[in-house]
Amino acid sequence: MAQHGPVTVERDGDVAVVMMDNPPVNALGSALRQGLMAALDEVRGDASVKAVVLAGTARAFSGGADITEFGSAMQDPNLRQVISAVEDMPVPVVAAIQGVALGGGLELALGCHARVAWTTAKMGLPEVKLGLLPGAGGTQRLPRVVGVEKALSMIVTGNPIGAIEAQAAGLVDAVLDGSYPGAAVEYARTVTDRRRVRDREDKLEPARADPGLIDRVAAPLLKASGAEAPRACVDSVRAAVEMPFDAGSANERRLFETLVKGDESRAQRHAFFAEREAQKAKLPPGTQARPVQRAAVIGAGTMGGGIAMCFANAGIPVTVIETEQAALDRGMARIAELYATSAKRGSITPAQAEERRGRITGRLGLEGVRDADIIVEAVFEDMGVKKQVFAELDRLAKPGAVLATNTSYLDIDEIAASTGRPGDVLGMHFFSPANVMKLLETVRGRATDPAVIATAAEVGKRLGKVGVVVGNCFGFVGNRMLGRRQDAAERLLLDGASPQEVDGALTAFGFKMGPFAMSDLAGLDIGMRIRKAFGKRAPVADALCDAGRYGQKTGSGYYLYEGRTATPDPEVDRIITEEAGKLGITRHPIAADEITERLVYPMINEGARILEEGIAARPGDIDAIWLHGYNWPAWRGGPMFYADLVGLARIRDRLQDFHSATGDENLRPAPLLTRLADAGHGFADQAKRAA
Ligand code: 3HC
Ligand code: NAI
Repeated sequence: MAQHGPVTVERDGDVAVVMMDNPPVNALGSALRQGLMAALDEVRGDASVKAVVLAGTARAFSGGADITEFGSAMQDPNLRQVISAVEDMPVPVVAAIQGVALGGGLELALGCHARVAWTTAKMGLPEVKLGLLPGAGGTQRLPRVVGVEKALSMIVTGNPIGAIEAQAAGLVDAVLDGSYPGAAVEYARTVTDRRRVRDREDKLEPARADPGLIDRVAAPLLKASGAEAPRACVDSVRAAVEMPFDAGSANERRLFETLVKGDESRAQRHAFFAEREAQKAKLPPGTQARPVQRAAVIGAGTMGGGIAMCFANAGIPVTVIETEQAALDRGMARIAELYATSAKRGSITPAQAEERRGRITGRLGLEGVRDADIIVEAVFEDMGVKKQVFAELDRLAKPGAVLATNTSYLDIDEIAASTGRPGDVLGMHFFSPANVMKLLETVRGRATDPAVIATAAEVGKRLGKVGVVVGNCFGFVGNRMLGRRQDAAERLLLDGASPQEVDGALTAFGFKMGPFAMSDLAGLDIGMRIRKAFGKRAPVADALCDAGRYGQKTGSGYYLYEGRTATPDPEVDRIITEEAGKLGITRHPIAADEITERLVYPMINEGARILEEGIAARPGDIDAIWLHGYNWPAWRGGPMFYADLVGLARIRDRLQDFHSATGDENLRPAPLLTRLADAGHGFADQAKRAA
């Protein structure tokens, strides 16, 4: 046995087993690359070796290039050199894949002469999610192995595939289930062909014979994104078809070098680390999460049903509680319908759908919470109702149960005060649809016990959520900032923009939907109820509601609907002009850039207040919230990262303009924003200093 840094070489008869062990995920940083080169040198010099198995750990064959090395000078050998060395070995090299083989990890496996995978394996080229393309030959080798169509779908979406699918696509030669990597050693003894992937041309032929194929396959994949990286992925695969291997690789390298220096990739790398950092709640050392085996959800409406599904999907049995049979039946029927749809779509098997549905039990009356370790309340957004429910929970829940509310805006401390155990109460704010959206805002009340926060964080992880701990205030982080955007959108209408111009500015920015299309989808009555409860007004939105225009469900809102198809409505223009007139505002055209600034900068300003008040611990937490709860475009990194890119001085100055024009105090630049802008700093600098 020989050790080369994180790489071990062992002999099993005439097979050399090269094992990578660079925790946590075998990222291919410089020490691992050097270790691999040294191991290959050792094996190459031994004539008794007839084959090599390249293996990782149970968790990861390799999670790819070390992302932390991007942006600084790369030490030799680089990953392409390592892959070439594998490819040119005098004996067959077999990649033994358990856990993940992602990005550079899969590219390394593609340098091997054969690949075998265990059923737990996940293989993919997710570089596009970091604003990149695979830069170590992935765009050249993958199409040679799986064909152009499959390669495009994997590279442009970045989504991984499992072992069975990989075998069907030709990416792996066998799926093994024996000991790891022993079963691969047996397999390696049967491999005689050491043809290099780079020399295989047959799978490229269909695309060579049909020059329109790439564009046809790429068009639907590119539709959803305004970012550069997906297009670079397509261009690079095209080069694999049109150029010899070395020229295609050099082209790939050039594209990679450009992207890695660009703002989009910086933004997406920031998002990757912010998402992970955000999930590390600052809690006193030694804080222990409480065990959770059973859950209860109160309310089987839009949110309650989705939240119950989250628990069931994670294998946690859950009781859903309603006050009336009809509401319970409706909720349970909707859950069954959603599972049936997933099974029909093929995202889960019918057996899984049945198993998950079987974990959800419906009940009338709060008595049903007695055996739950965690209770999530999702009843009407009404303080009176919530207080009543929590007072009952205090009486019925077992000692130590976590009592969570899914409230969107209400004061967690006031809700907690209706119990005799405020330490057990916190907010667990899911986003709609709860079974799909990844964000979970965990709201810490004044009295919340750290163990309760740790439990919510742990549960969030089990549910597959991105859990971010925030402080208690109106709307918490996400909805509080959203409120500023809604105010701005309403004001833009009064000042002269049309709903389609406002929505268009945000979709051009990268959001899937603008604020008005979103309101029409959710229903204008929701916003109206919230405004009424908090004594607020929005002239245009209120006038639309008064006219019975609640959005898609009534066939009209900010737009006119035929089914889900929206068209602009002259009646809306008339209502807006009338409301502007009542306020003495003369409407005028507003340029698209200004619309974007007026929508986004007030959110950033509110983000600065949120940071200053300590409601969010780090700017990256705010970014993670907007990326995972509100579809902020990933390639723009989140609002606070975006602010640093624009420059805080510009944002301060524009806010000053907006404040002077409207007199709206919310638009006055926040003290933290002003201080940082004056000092020439960004939010990231401030976060670094705070850390
Ligand atoms: N580089 C550096 N650090 C990495 C990393 C990578 N490629 N992948 C994961 N990590 C770190 C994470 O930051 C985290 O660190 P922390 O514990 O300090 O927060 C730790 O490893 C564990 O990661 P996760 O919490 O995400 O663990 P999971 O088990 O949930 O997921 C994973 C593991 C699926 C590998 C996930 O981390 C992942 O998706 N990683 C990124 C994969 C990727 O994008 N690879 C491509 C890199 S770019 C590339 O290869 C370029 C090449 O083409 C030249
Ligand atoms: P909903 O109106 O769809 O569902 C509420 C359900 O609670 C109804 O089925 C009702 O019968 C039931 N209910 C009322 N009082 C009850 C009681 N005492 N015991 C048991 N059940 C009771 O409302 P929705 O949209 O699901 O909202 C629920 C909560 O989630 C609210 O606090 C809301 O602010 C919050 N929320 C809503 C989001 C959304 O997009 N709809 C997003 C995030 C949070």
